[in-house]
Amino acid sequence: MTASINHNSGPLTRSVHAGRARRQPNHSLTTPLIQTATYTFQDTADLVSFMQSKVWGDGTDREEYGRYGNPTVRAVEARLAALEGAEDALLFASGMAAITATLLSMLPTGSHIILTDDCYRRTRQFALAFLKRLGIESTLVPMGDYEALEAAIRPGSTRLIVSESPTNPYLRVLDLPRLVEIAKRHRLKTLVDTTFATPLNVRPLEHGVDLVVHSATKYLSGHNDLLAGVIAGRADLIGALRQSQGVLGGVIDPHAAWLLERGLKTLGVRVKQQNESALALARFLEDHPRVQRVWYPGLESHPDHEIAIRQMSGFGGVISFEIEGTLEDASRFVDALQIPTIAPSLGGVESLVEQPALMSYFEMTSEERAAIGISDTLIRYAVGIEDVNDLLHDLARALATLQ
Ligand SMILES: Cc1ncc(COP(=O)(O)O)c(C=O)c1O
Repeated sequence: MTASINHNSGPLTRSVHAGRARRQPNHSLTTPLIQTATYTFQDTADLVSFMQSKVWGDGTDREEYGRYGNPTVRAVEARLAALEGAEDALLFASGMAAITATLLSMLPTGSHIILTDDCYRRTRQFALAFLKRLGIESTLVPMGDYEALEAAIRPGSTRLIVSESPTNPYLRVLDLPRLVEIAKRHRLKTLVDTTFATPLNVRPLEHGVDLVVHSATKYLSGHNDLLAGVIAGRADLIGALRQSQGVLGGVIDPHAAWLLERGLKTLGVRVKQQNESALALARFLEDHPRVQRVWYPGLESHPDHEIAIRQMSGFGGVISFEIEGTLEDASRFVDALQIPTIAPSLGGVESLVEQPALMSYFEMTSEERAAIGISDTLIRYAVGIEDVNDLLHDLARALATLQ
């Protein structure tokens, strides 16, 4: 690994080079894909020397079995750690595999965690349903209410605060220094999901957060062609999670890791474009008479704009907005869009659009949705890397069909 690249370079350089050995086998420029489930030993003496260094020595840099490690995966983990400014990172088969394995590993029976309420609904579901069965309690506190967060701490049993920034769908931004100050005062650990931001826009570890997690399915891979998750932080915390992963088993396939590394090389240029395009689209939507409200942390009207300005270097590629009219009007608008396609997910090169009332919240009635703050005309637009003028014209034309 080239240390100068890891420690002194800018994020764009890191996203292309960090973790890559300067000399690769067979003089390959790209990281070799080691697509194997297991690793061989030359003879029993080779095996015994491996076991000795593993058990009594300083560890070993060779691999034993696919669930315990893979050189391609390790190279990508080193790049992700460098991007986050972390000592180490650990890849998983999906974002949910990373989140569930981390919570399962860190929380003993009888412990308690605090989650901010605007978090990914499967994370919430895992905490409220699965962890509860194991005797681990969760309290949901409103995102942005730091008094409620502190009041929810149960001395002796609270171990961890779990949050996201920006959140889905309202792009709320967590005040990271404020969160860390509360957590440190009560000797709690913090875990923040910054999937929507990417390490190009915010690096929570620099603010004192203990662990940062991403659905690498989104911006980090960037091409909507693989599922992956990553957790990054201090070496001792990640080392413990690595041990748990060997038992729980949610490892990433080496080929997916190899594709993720390819995606990472363009992270900087993709995110820069997505930041710029999303801000332009958000401003356009905010001025449009058929649009009732826009949520984008880069807009002065967003409730967390001041926090976003302080701690983010870009505001991300997701915009949420409500249009005037009914659920059917919103659907007509979505169907009239010609560039983004309807799909869950975000962060890829293709723009995607969804109407949460017809996707994540489909089983609810309008009234139930309204009660949790999801309007029938809410639209989430995940900006890709297409020409921003084309995206603007497409939006304008689709909005015009509502006249
Ligand atoms: C913020 C956030 N965290 C975690 C996840 C889960 O990631 P994955 O789909 O890779 O399991 C998602 C997925 O949409 C997400 O949006």
